Amino acid sequence: MTTAKKVAFLGLGVMGYPMAGHLVKHGYDVCVYNRTTAKAEQWVKEYNGQLGLTPAAAAEGADIVFACVGNDDDIRQVTVGADGAFSSMKAGAVFVDHTTASAAVARELAVAAEQHELAFIDAPVSGGQAGAENGVLTVMCGGQPEIFEQVSPAIDSFARSVKLMGPAGSGQLTKMVNQICIAGVVQGLSEGLNFARQAGLDPEAVVEVISKGAAQSWQMENRYQTMAAGEYEHGFAVDWMRKDLAICLEEARNNGISLPLTALVDQFYADVQNMGGGRWDTSSLLARLEALNFSDK
Ligand SMILES: NC(=O)c1ccc[n+]([C@@H]2O[C@H](COP(=O)([O-])OP(=O)(O)OC[C@H]3O[C@@H](n4cnc5c(N)ncnc54)[C@H](OP(=O)(O)O)[C@@H]3O)[C@@H](O)[C@H]2O)c1
Repeated sequence: MTTAKKVAFLGLGVMGYPMAGHLVKHGYDVCVYNRTTAKAEQWVKEYNGQLGLTPAAAAEGADIVFACVGNDDDIRQVTVGADGAFSSMKAGAVFVDHTTASAAVARELAVAAEQHELAFIDAPVSGGQAGAENGVLTVMCGGQPEIFEQVSPAIDSFARSVKLMGPAGSGQLTKMVNQICIAGVVQGLSEGLNFARQAGLDPEAVVEVISKGAAQSWQMENRYQTMAAGEYEHGFAVDWMRKDLAICLEEARNNGISLPLTALVDQFYADVQNMGGGRWDTSSLLARLEALNFSDK
């Protein structure tokens, strides 16, 4: 890029911090806001960007405002809440939301953006912390095609795949499909590894063999070693997964869709939370099964 575009990034968490950094590396002039200011100050020092003390202050004058916060209420707060970005963004600017939130809030904020002469793209991501740090996220978007064309080059700064899935809310619906698919796979993998060990097999040797066949999955390839070692202090937190599954189950309830396996695995994750594993990686479903083995003996 030769001419730096002015952008803002709201929410410098595990995901947002490196994503905002990639924008600087790709030549964007970035102003950041974080609720806990110390983290924003650290980011500014590391990347030589600018600091806004409120979402409105950070978003002023930006062509694109990105956000990656926690849930529906958080994204409402930084857009239409007190000192929210929508109050200061210039006409014609675009708000891109990378938070995993409901399709309903995406549609609601798309309407609110229009009332402020702005545009809105819901753009949840997949790829985890490593994907954000290495700039190789998958980004699934909802919104108008001409607006998507305006913002996708900037999203490319931290993504390997960016796709428009349909109108407002479609990015969030696609992310729901992603989480529904993951829930069942992780429970299956946990049952398989637990069964292997209880049957006297070496789980690692089992995976070495079956990962060459039809049982292979991203979870198997990337998680079996830490699962076999009982290490869960990394990755995508169970608390976040339950937030995402609640969104999926609510959407399914509203649309009359049956998600029996997702509902069951959500309850298993509640057990993991009760074991103190709210911040553990989602692969900790195995720890729950192992606790059941133990109590049977
Ligand atoms: N971590 C992953 O592997 C992953 C993968 C895919 C998608 N996601 C999704 O990406 C989003 C962010 O995840 P994360 O892992 O980056 O979370 P995180 O580390 O907890 O960061 C959340 C960020 O949002 C800010 N925030 C939360 N509530 C806010 C509010 N009401 N007002 C202003 N700022 C607020 C936090 O500010 P403070 O610093 O002040 O707390 C922090 O900067 C979530 O929706 C998550 O589901 C995460």
